Amino acid sequence: MDLMEYQAKELFAKHGVTTTLGKVVTTPEEARSAAEEYGFCVVKAQVKAGGRGKAGGVKLAKTPDEAFEHASNILGMEIKGLTVNRVLVTPATPPQEEYYFSFLLDRSNRQYLCIASVEGGVEIEEVAKTNPDAVKQIAIDPGAGVDEAKAREIATEAKFPEAVFEQAVTMIQALYTVFVEEDATLVEVNPLARLEGDKLEALDGKVSLDDNASEVRHHEHEAFEISEETDPLEAKAKAKGLNYVKLDGEVGIIGNGAGLVMSTLDVVAYAGEAHGGVKPANFLDIGGGANAEVMANGLDVILGDEQVKSVFVNVFGGITACDEVANGIKGALEILGDQATKPLVVRLDGNNVDKGRAILDELNHPLVTQVATMDGAADKAAELANG
Ligand SMILES: Nc1ncnc2c1ncn2[C@@H]1O[C@H](COP(=O)(O)OP(=O)(O)OP(=O)(O)O)[C@@H](O)[C@H]1O
Ligand SMILES: [Mg+2]
Repeated sequence: MDLMEYQAKELFAKHGVTTTLGKVVTTPEEARSAAEEYGFCVVKAQVKAGGRGKAGGVKLAKTPDEAFEHASNILGMEIKGLTVNRVLVTPATPPQEEYYFSFLLDRSNRQYLCIASVEGGVEIEEVAKTNPDAVKQIAIDPGAGVDEAKAREIATEAKFPEAVFEQAVTMIQALYTVFVEEDATLVEVNPLARLEGDKLEALDGKVSLDDNASEVRHHEHEAFEISEETDPLEAKAKAKGLNYVKLDGEVGIIGNGAGLVMSTLDVVAYAGEAHGGVKPANFLDIGGGANAEVMANGLDVILGDEQVKSVFVNVFGGITACDEVANGIKGALEILGDQATKPLVVRLDGNNVDKGRAILDELNHPLVTQVATMDGAADKAAELANG
């Protein structure tokens, strides 16, 4: 799960990283009240995307009226396709210098990586391209972690200036604590700012949490989920225990097993090229137990997606035999009744395939078409989605 800036800062504060929390608000009036308290302040769009400043989502306000005006403009704004529903108002503390700092999971090298630069700020991507030597990468052995000596090594390598060096050493250790204790896959601060009086402070924060850990070790992370920001269909699928990801196309996909579903996406995308460029609408793995209820839940979620024009059910019978799946589809159509309105292309193969196909033949449902092969079924589903 990716966190918003204000949530990242809450975790920073919890682990002793110097930052200013400010106030998260959803209306211009509230922004004005916050500004009355802070005086000179900054109004910042809260969306899970980078480049907010460049998109006009970060504005300084000298007066409460200005804060009101900025909040009016920023709320409702779209940044990288995401609508801004809240802004963070914090006291303005103009940086004298801006640094970049992050810890992340380096999967390919099976270790952690620290990336640091004294040339941080909104142009960090540009710096990385034009002056890569200014962006230091330091490998972290997860077993050894980051103690004071390692933090000094990082601060030296990154060339933090003497005036803030000791603060940087402390800050690096605190950020590492956030990274490890919260089971994060990314902790990023840009800018890590040198403020007036040589004070070092995290003016921005980006944290990605490992969902696997959140489900086991960090139930408190659930509080970071903002219901109106999650896709309603994904929320519905999650509540029903389904492994669902919404995509942008028109052909709904249901399969059993992640590998089969992944290859189904490819086959449908390929078949779609001959049918007006239709694409898969989702990833949905119903896993092993494809009974009527699971199938109904899956279909219910997919049919709820307005973009979906046809559904491709692709099942290879293994532990769950094809006749069980066929009964699942039959039961699901009964459960859904009038709610099932889109054509279903079903391809069954594997364990008990003949029995499964016979059940659907007998059902003779007007919405269901059986196709024996995966390629053929993908082609049919794409054709129906385009029709
Ligand atoms: N409290 C503050 N006071 C003064 N200036 C600030 C403050 N917070 C941010 N800024 C300025 O605004 C710039 C952009 O802010 P911030 O880094 O939070 O957003 P962003 O970098 O555009 O977003 P992202 O990191 O998601 O790309 C900072 O680099 C800094 O110069
Ligand atoms: Mg930033």
